[in-house]
Amino acid sequence: MSATVLHQIQKSDLAVRSLVESDLPQVMELECLGYSHPWPESLFRDCFKPQYRLWALIRGDDMVGYAVVNYMVDEAHLLNVCVHPALRGQGAGRYLLRYAVAESIRDGMVQMILEVRESNEAAAALYASEGFEEIGRRPDYYPDAAGREDARVMVYRFT
Ligand SMILES: CC(C)(COP(=O)(O)OP(=O)(O)OC[C@H]1O[C@@H](n2cnc3c(N)ncnc32)[C@H](O)[C@@H]1OP(=O)(O)O)[C@@H](O)C(=O)NCCC(=O)NCCS
Repeated sequence: MSATVLHQIQKSDLAVRSLVESDLPQVMELECLGYSHPWPESLFRDCFKPQYRLWALIRGDDMVGYAVVNYMVDEAHLLNVCVHPALRGQGAGRYLLRYAVAESIRDGMVQMILEVRESNEAAAALYASEGFEEIGRRPDYYPDAAGREDARVMVYRFT
């Protein structure tokens, strides 16, 4: 993404479309900026299957974020959500999350579940403010610089 687009977001600038495999080079750039332990590209490729929904967050001509959701029976599992670091804190993550939730409801899911690193306070605050509640922990779920880190498990029941 060029430096010229890294100014403040107006929500009306944002749109969501389906992610396609040709987006993956850009996804991998964002993924490596977004995470200490990024997914390999092969993991994204494995998600292009009917029971997955992959969303690209678009601003102008740029892809500025993405989300990956897996449908299991009637439960949506949010596997990944990421926004370009330069655009964080301006509502883009909330916009994308709301889109993924709305699509999950439309597709007949009854709840959305996710794991989030215990240290990821920004993401956990976003989820809590959108109706997710913590229902447990998965000990040592994630690798981190010091060894392993717990995951909070959060769920949003749609009804
Ligand atoms: C998590 C992420 C997607 C949020 O995207 P974002 O565009 O920054 O989020 P928003 O601007 O929509 O913020 C929504 C809410 O999140 C919380 N939040 C966002 N940034 C925060 C921060 N730095 N500290 C604390 N809370 C924060 C706030 O509750 C905020 O609501 P508010 O603006 O009304 O206070 C983004 O930080 C990101 O891509 N992180 C790296 C990847 C990642 O960790 N993904 C989640 C994996 S579980």
